[in-house]
Amino acid sequence: MCGIVGYIGHREAYPIILKGLKRLEYRGYDSAGIALYDGKDIKLSKTKGKVVDLEAKLEKEISTDGNLGIGHTRWATHGVPNDVNSHPHYSNSGNLVIIHNGIIENYESLKTELKKRGYTFQSDTDTEVLINLIEDVMKNDGLKLGKAVQIALNQVVGAYAIAVFDKNKPNEIVVAKLGSPLAIGIGGDEFFIASDASPFIEYTKNAIYLEDEEMAIIRRGKDLKIRKIKDDSLVDPYVQELQLNLEQIEKGGFDHFMLKEIYEQPNAIRDTYRGRMLVNEGIIKLAGVEDNMKKFLNADRIIIVACGTSWHAGLVAEYIFEDLARIPVEVEYASEFRYRNPVITEKDIVISISQSGETADTLAAIKLAKSKGAFVFGICNVVGSSIARETNAGAYTHAGPEIGVASTKAFTTQITILTLIALRLARAKGTISSSDYRLHLLELEMIPDKVKKVLESEAHIKSIAEIYKNTRNFLYLGRGYNFPVALEGALKLKEISYIHAEGYPAAEMKHGPIALIDENMPIIVIATKYGHYEKVVSNIQEIRSRKGKIIGVVTQGDVNVKELADHVIEVPETLESLSPLLTTIPLQLLSYHIAVMLGKNVDQPRNLAKSVTVE
Ligand code: G6P
Repeated sequence: MCGIVGYIGHREAYPIILKGLKRLEYRGYDSAGIALYDGKDIKLSKTKGKVVDLEAKLEKEISTDGNLGIGHTRWATHGVPNDVNSHPHYSNSGNLVIIHNGIIENYESLKTELKKRGYTFQSDTDTEVLINLIEDVMKNDGLKLGKAVQIALNQVVGAYAIAVFDKNKPNEIVVAKLGSPLAIGIGGDEFFIASDASPFIEYTKNAIYLEDEEMAIIRRGKDLKIRKIKDDSLVDPYVQELQLNLEQIEKGGFDHFMLKEIYEQPNAIRDTYRGRMLVNEGIIKLAGVEDNMKKFLNADRIIIVACGTSWHAGLVAEYIFEDLARIPVEVEYASEFRYRNPVITEKDIVISISQSGETADTLAAIKLAKSKGAFVFGICNVVGSSIARETNAGAYTHAGPEIGVASTKAFTTQITILTLIALRLARAKGTISSSDYRLHLLELEMIPDKVKKVLESEAHIKSIAEIYKNTRNFLYLGRGYNFPVALEGALKLKEISYIHAEGYPAAEMKHGPIALIDENMPIIVIATKYGHYEKVVSNIQEIRSRKGKIIGVVTQGDVNVKELADHVIEVPETLESLSPLLTTIPLQLLSYHIAVMLGKNVDQPRNLAKSVTVE
């Protein structure tokens, strides 16, 4: 989704903004632009394409001087990706300039009104409507920029993170937030604005995350004032010290962020359970769960809401919670849940799962569940994100920044934390025996080393990728705990290589997908030792009789599947409930290598966004 960056201070704004936009590329975008104030005038350049295209164009078009500027990466919603629709946008007078992440839903009616008052529009965007609405308020009521932004935003329905400046008041940037994230970095006498802290982490560790319906007036060399947009009340700024460091957001010798993040999984999983699982003592402690234990124990059911890969982690959790803690679980796409008038009661617990903590549909599902009296528990990776703030309690995954658009370590760390919760509840409810509980803890502690073992198969997986890279369709099959892994494997391939892939429960194959099988169809079958193994083996036989190409993901030492399959990838033995943490790794590597071999943009696949802040 769109990324925004801004700077006001004593340094040259251009290099800071340009580098910042590059850091936000992971969010997914199709065009980019920058506006700078050089002491006299606004200089603006924008283009369809990538930040490197902008860089090449901008340096020919305008001077890059100035200590104030704003920049934007646009992920098209209203209006196709082209130069004109790219941000920043001017107001009609040319005095005001804006960048915006989000959607102004009532822009059509506002535009009609503004047209009646003589305003003209260059682009098809909702954003150009907003900047002219601000200008209109300024003109009619003789107001300063900050006040005009506030009044205009009170007329707006939708979501936004905006930054605006006025060439007649070049010591000031006004920012505001509702629904889309906005962080302000605070240096000595300088301020940074961005969709997340990555663009300014090397300049300052102090940041303020604006809350929804807050705006800030940021003055060069002075202070910043935060106000509530609705009632104008002043808000005390809460300055956080960031834990993020530069190394975490750079590639560290890997060709792509995705590969780096795949390899980070042993440590990320360990970081997720570190301090929360004390194996020798047999203790799991998660503050968010302990503080609300009564609610968890009295819950009629758990409803999991999430999108994309996080939804797949939710499906794995359904098996773990029901299996170990005997709590009924429903897993819902947040986008469906929020609009289908679901039955939710005060005895329901809603667990929302989100890497970014910003997914608009998941956020809306949480708000709906809360309004019906449910207790909402959030699982997020990004500290301080909107979902983390909106939920009643929660647990962070501590996976570290995930930059590659295709989620990898977020998935395995989400499963890790969900497993800890299920085990803790199972223990409290007495639905797990002491020996089984202990075994789970011991096995979970060994998972990082076993993931490392799977990563050693990379060269073998690459050789399989070489054979199948030009195939147009793939099937992924799994049963039980590994059915969601099949879905996730298929999603990874689709996302980054644009090859059509479908995930299915292995036994469902007979009800449709089997018709697709011939000698050209590769089928990835997850056949772990304790996962209804014989049943899966007979599914493999059905595929073999139809000449499908079989790639088996099996437990080390497997004999039967080896005989039937064209290729096998081995993973170390573990409990079936923990096996998704291992079986998912070869599928990530397979997708990665196919995409690289096909020359695709692995970290920023076309049309996709890392954090989907619009519905
Ligand atoms: C986007 C991303 C996916 C992610 C999904 C949910 O589609 O490209 O990788 O799984 O959003 O994101 P969340 O941040 O809520 O987990």
